[in-house]
Amino acid sequence: MGLPRPPVFLQKILILLHVTMCVVVGKTMMILFPNAMKRYILKQGEKSRMNKNPKFSYENWGPTFFSFKYLLFVLKVKWKRLEDEAFEGHPAPNTPVVTFNGEVRHLFDFIQDNRPLILNFGSYFSSVADFLIIYIEEAHAEDGWAFKNNIVIKNHRSLEDRKIASQFLQKNNPLCPVVLDTMENLSSSKYAALPERLYLLQGGKVTYKGGVGPWNYHPQEIRAILEKLK
Ligand SMILES: *[C@@H]1O[C@H](CO)[C@@H](O)[C@H](O)[C@H]1NC(C)=O
Repeated sequence: MGLPRPPVFLQKILILLHVTMCVVVGKTMMILFPNAMKRYILKQGEKSRMNKNPKFSYENWGPTFFSFKYLLFVLKVKWKRLEDEAFEGHPAPNTPVVTFNGEVRHLFDFIQDNRPLILNFGSYFSSVADFLIIYIEEAHAEDGWAFKNNIVIKNHRSLEDRKIASQFLQKNNPLCPVVLDTMENLSSSKYAALPERLYLLQGGKVTYKGGVGPWNYHPQEIRAILEKLK
């Protein structure tokens, strides 16, 4: 597939340089042109459901952009994406997940015959959708890139922490099973799912790979595919 990719450590360094540069530029722009940047960030927010929550104003999340914690989180997301093993038309990674009873299952255990399975990766910040929700690490942990006026959840140090965090999501009555990523975060890594992402699996293959949330998380794309399958 085209040019050979540079070694991982080199890719990581290039990503580090790129992210640092973007954050420095972003921060500078925010100081010099706060109003223009606010408009720009709000416009980005429109692509997600971020602006739709009336309790959650720009002041709660906008100013956290381009902070040091933001940099660390974006870096983690981009580095993690190098571990991506899920590609459209290719076999889907059958990674382990944990049920609320503590049983270890695998994603394929949730596939019935040839029916498509939607995977909805996310943490508390993601919205609730259909089928299988895989609770992965927190995008806006209190001890990470935190937003104000958001629910307080720290980075999970154990599976028990993750289970407790996912109970906030359970309270919203998702209409489908919720399972937890294991503490090795294999589901999150192999599907490059952080901070949130949608997939459609069918016949053991990845048939749809959604964009990376929150900006490119579009459940309506899944709906369009399912309509065609009817
Ligand atoms: C998985 O994610 C959690 C944060 O939710 C972190 O504490 C843990 O170290 C991660 N595990 C690995 C193997 O990186």
